[in-house]
Amino acid sequence: MLNIVLFGPPGAGKGTQSEKLIHQYQLVHLSTGDIFRANIKGGTELGNKAKQFIDQGQLVPDEITIGMLESEADKYPDAKGYIFDGFPRTPKQAEALDNFLTSKGTAISGMIALEVDEEELRTRLMIRGKDSGRIDDQDPAIIQKRIDVYKNETEPVRDFYMSQNKYTGINGIGTIEEIFGRLCTAIDAIK
Ligand code: AP5
Ligand code: MG
Repeated sequence: MLNIVLFGPPGAGKGTQSEKLIHQYQLVHLSTGDIFRANIKGGTELGNKAKQFIDQGQLVPDEITIGMLESEADKYPDAKGYIFDGFPRTPKQAEALDNFLTSKGTAISGMIALEVDEEELRTRLMIRGKDSGRIDDQDPAIIQKRIDVYKNETEPVRDFYMSQNKYTGINGIGTIEEIFGRLCTAIDAIK
C-alpha cells in the first residue's frame, strides 16, 4: 500500500493537492477536518462535540479524533492506500496511526510536508474566508490561533516521522500545478 501523510499548516494546500493526488495514485483521501465539517453539517453527536473546538481554532481531543479516523479508514477495506490530510496532528495521534496500520499489516510510506510561510497562509485563509462559510476562516484572531496551535502542538509530529526517516519537505508556494509536480516527484521517490 501507499500511505501518505500530507502535512502542513492551515492553508498550506493539503486539501487542494489531495484532490489531485487521489486521482494520480488511486488513493483514498481521509481529511479529519472534512469529516468533522460533514458531521457538523449533519448535526451528528460527533459534529456537536467537535464544533466548539473547531470554531475556536483549537484541536478536537485525541480520544474523539483517533476513533473517528480509524472507523472512517475501515470503510475502505479494499483501498490501495490512503492520503491522511490533517491527521495525525499530535504525537499521540501519530502513535495511534502507526499501531492501527501495523494491525492491518501496513505502515506509513512517508510524510510529505508543504512548506508555506505564515504571511502567505494568512492571505490564503482570509481570501477563502470571504465565501467559504468556514467560521474558522472568518476572524484573523482565529486564523492566528490555528497557526499557533499548529506550531505548538502539531509540528512535533514532523520529528516523529523524521526519526523514522520518512520525512520529505517541499516548497508549497507556487501554482497548484507546480506544487502538484513537486509532490508527485516526492511520492515517486518513496513508492
Ligand atoms: P482542517 O480542515 O484540517 O483545516 P486546516 O489544517 O486548518 O487547514 P485547511 O483545510 O484550512 O488548509 P489546507 O492545508 O487543506 O489548504 P487548502 O487546500 O484548503 O482542520 C480544521 C479544524 O478541524 C482544526 O482547526 C481542528 O479544530 C479540527 N481538526 C482537524 N483535524 C484534526 C485532528 N487530526 N486533530 C484534532 N483536531 C482536528 O487551501 C487553503 C486555501 O488556499 C484555499 O482557498 C485554496 O484554494 C488556496 N490555495 C491552495 N493552494 C494554493 C496555491 N498554490 N496558491 C494560492 N492559493 C492556494
Ligand atoms: Mg484542508
